Amino acid sequence: MVQVPYQLVLALIVIVAPSVTYSTSCDKSRKVLTDSWGIISDGPIGENYTHDTHCEWLIKANSTDQFITLKFLYMNTECSYDYVFVYDGYSFQAPLLGTFSGKNDPQNIVASSGYMLILMYSDTNYMLDGFQAEYSISNCPSNCTHHGQCVAHTCICDTDWGGEDCSRKLCANQCSGHGDCIEGQCLCRQGYVGQYCSLSDHDQDREGNRWHTLSQDVIEARTSHSAVYVDDTDALYVFGGFNLNLVLGDLKVYWFNSSRWEDEDGNVLESGKLSHGHLVDASALAALLNKEREKESRWGLRTPTILQNIIYSLTDNNTWNYRHHGEGSNPGPGQLRLYRGSRQANGSEVVRPGPRFGHAACRYPGGFLLYGGKLPDGSLSSELWLYNVTARSWDLRALGSNFTPPPLSKHTLTYAPDTEHVYLVGGSRQHGEFSNRIYRIKLSTVGGDEQWTELVPRGGPGLEFRVTAHSTVYDVYSKSLLIYGGILTQVRYTYV
Ligand SMILES: *[C@@H]1O[C@H](CO)[C@@H](O)[C@H](O)[C@H]1NC(C)=O
Ligand SMILES: *[C@@H]1O[C@H](CO)[C@@H](O)[C@H](O)[C@H]1NC(C)=O
Ligand SMILES: *[C@@H]1O[C@H](CO)[C@@H](O)[C@H](O)[C@H]1NC(C)=O
Ligand SMILES: *[C@@H]1O[C@H](CO)[C@@H](O)[C@H](O)[C@H]1NC(C)=O
Ligand SMILES: *[C@@H]1O[C@H](CO)[C@@H](O)[C@H](O)[C@H]1NC(C)=O
Ligand SMILES: *[C@@H]1O[C@H](CO)[C@@H](O)[C@H](O)[C@H]1NC(C)=O
Ligand SMILES: *[C@@H]1O[C@H](CO)[C@@H](O)[C@H](O)[C@H]1NC(C)=O
Repeated sequence: MVQVPYQLVLALIVIVAPSVTYSTSCDKSRKVLTDSWGIISDGPIGENYTHDTHCEWLIKANSTDQFITLKFLYMNTECSYDYVFVYDGYSFQAPLLGTFSGKNDPQNIVASSGYMLILMYSDTNYMLDGFQAEYSISNCPSNCTHHGQCVAHTCICDTDWGGEDCSRKLCANQCSGHGDCIEGQCLCRQGYVGQYCSLSDHDQDREGNRWHTLSQDVIEARTSHSAVYVDDTDALYVFGGFNLNLVLGDLKVYWFNSSRWEDEDGNVLESGKLSHGHLVDASALAALLNKEREKESRWGLRTPTILQNIIYSLTDNNTWNYRHHGEGSNPGPGQLRLYRGSRQANGSEVVRPGPRFGHAACRYPGGFLLYGGKLPDGSLSSELWLYNVTARSWDLRALGSNFTPPPLSKHTLTYAPDTEHVYLVGGSRQHGEFSNRIYRIKLSTVGGDEQWTELVPRGGPGLEFRVTAHSTVYDVYSKSLLIYGGILTQVRYTYV
């Protein structure tokens, strides 16, 4: 049992709850809620939940076209032992929207399947006062956040607002004065980059020590992926990862010269600019336009820009993949929905790494290298892949090596340009054991022998700690690998 500091608990209890008329507390059963608004809680604030809690709430909308928004008012559970899980559906096989634990204020969560299933689970120790959340059911996501109108379950956003729920300000900050706002997106002038054209690619114009938003909501949100910047192409290559439900196997490329994402086949990806590509019912649209026209003539307003917005929302196809809405069956664990193995013209499967997360990647002349990672079936990989950015092709390397490092995840891969070696440090092994090993390999440019070797540090038995989920950089000046952070366990050596 790990002791987690909870000194802030008492201070938090004073958060004011709205008058709770719908409070349905936790008694190890599933409650089904069909009202359009309500509050759920494991019990009164200030009173602890019981040990071995298992409580379920199923919120059910009138139709699968409706959206359910959950807003946490309060949350405090034993961090990483007691959890609240939220699913977009009516079963635990439905897509997981979030997993929450500890003392925090989760962001609002929106379910789009017409159902939201909430599970609170606690272990046998250390009870705290749990959570309280408010839900509401609306015809559009987050009821269009006051920046749009809900037409046939789709937000038609006001001018200057975009996103599925109209919560995103478009062309913010007038594209920083370095671009033009075209169809809700900044088109940056030569030499400027990013969602709002705020980053200059001239060193002399660049104001240091500042964050820039380069892109938002274009590719699938993920964790435990790899991202490598390649200067030859001035692009960032993002591979794989995990999105809470699926292990991803896609390669996405962010081009700095055009501030755009592309997929592996070179198709440009666009964000949900103004609305998601949900077809709007024509009669509902007509009614809305008539209303707008009336308003216009009554108030003498100019041409309603809403018309423009509707046109965008009809032509925007690219965000369909990201919706759960309307999809018949939900994928089970390990099933893939996003990963599609691409095929060559003659029908043979392209050789490429399969979906994975917790792998490591590093820059390598001509592209980047990728090692290991956790696969959808839970096993770990020991594959070494090279992606060639010019040929846009994957190549499995070191196949002839007499020795291969173990399958790993959460390790690091680092290229040392002066020695032309690639170093593999630490990580987690198949059954969770951390590694204290360092391996290295030198790739051959002429198809020659590529051999992995274990690096045995001079004058010592090895790293004195096992490390995983760390970061490693190579310092050319001191010719050193610098290892930072991570999770450590000591190795006890017996010195004789
Ligand atoms: C569901 O339908 C009932 C009856 O038509 C209505 O009273 C209720 O407000 C609806 N709920 C939602 C969330 O739309
Ligand atoms: C709730 O549990 C915590 C730790 O388990 C304890 O310190 C606290 O006094 C309990 N509160 C109530 C109201 O029982
Ligand atoms: C959504 O917005 C509409 C119009 O602004 C309002 O009438 C309705 O009550 C809102 N619904 C919810 C669930 O907040
Ligand atoms: C960006 O760079 C890539 C590769 O260097 C090139 O193919 C592409 O045409 C460039 N795009 C623009 C808008 O300059
Ligand atoms: C949207 O998808 C349809 C069908 O897949 C396709 O025919 C159409 O060209 C797409 N539109 C855009 C703007 O990509
Ligand atoms: C398909 O084409 C690729 C290259 O274009 C080639 O390497 C491969 O052998 C071909 N496969 C078959 C089954 O013909
Ligand atoms: C990448 O592909 C190009 C063109 O096919 C080739 O000339 C180059 O040698 C390759 N680079 C590496 C690192 O394999």
